[in-house]
Amino acid sequence: MSHQTLLDRICQHAPSLWGSGKVADYIPALQRVNPQQFGIALLMADGQLYTAGQARTGFSIQSISKVLSLMLALQRHGEQLWQRVGIEPSGTAFNSLVQLEYEQGKPRNPFINAGALVVVDALLARNAMPVHTMLTTVRRLAGNPSIIMDEAVSESEYQHRERNAAMAWLMKSYGNFHSDVDAALRAYFQFCALHMNCVELVRAFSFLMNQGVCMQSGQRILSARQTQQINALLLTSGLYDAAGDFAVRVGMPGKSGVGGGIVGAVPGKFTVCVWSPELNEYGNSVAGLYALEQLADELNSSIF
Ligand code: DON
Repeated sequence: MSHQTLLDRICQHAPSLWGSGKVADYIPALQRVNPQQFGIALLMADGQLYTAGQARTGFSIQSISKVLSLMLALQRHGEQLWQRVGIEPSGTAFNSLVQLEYEQGKPRNPFINAGALVVVDALLARNAMPVHTMLTTVRRLAGNPSIIMDEAVSESEYQHRERNAAMAWLMKSYGNFHSDVDAALRAYFQFCALHMNCVELVRAFSFLMNQGVCMQSGQRILSARQTQQINALLLTSGLYDAAGDFAVRVGMPGKSGVGGGIVGAVPGKFTVCVWSPELNEYGNSVAGLYALEQLADELNSSIF
């Protein structure tokens, strides 16, 4: 079956899954999204791009942005970053607070909210305007100068910031958070509010399959070693407490967001992005997971 036929088939099946999940409703700005949408983009290592459905409809990338902030922080801090944030799976929900106290304010990994907040804090120490840097970087990596951060989404997140603020303050009490909590939260929410589509995301994340070099811009983003580290962390923690299930069913490094997007990469082969807003109980897109499972099966792409 050709790659295009495969994507078309997956896309045709997606509507049969409508109703089996629930759109993120913790902020009104996300709750308003029409749940019955599906898009997929597949970028091969040879540069060939395949799309189906609403691959060019923008959505809130949410936690997918945690990979981008980690990338920026690794560029600035290198290996030192791992002294402040761990590299182990958490086995708890993305917004859980419990481990933070047991482990003296050091988050398990950079993809749970606490870890992403430490990453933003580290970024703020070396960059006075991280939001500007993020936007410029993402626009270049994705090849679209008009990518925006959705102010309504970031403001709505800020109004409902209690849990994330609690994490930041707890980490501060352990000496693992240095910047102004409010400034870090603002930056974190703005990153989460990046509004991008599947095609832009496969381009922006092409460095994951290409040893750290972005295929869109030709720019080296990270060293091959750092890229390997990010892919390893995505495999073990990218889907939080459902990472094991994703490794078994799909078998590739991946990152999900509560906007319904999931980005995945198979080094040397392809980067894929799928989007559909209805989520399962772990906060991962139902139709997105189905699509990636079908794709991995058909392309025999599990890395195991
Ligand atoms: O901080 C939050 O809760 C959201 N802005 C991001 C959560 C998210 O996307 C978790 N991933 N599935």
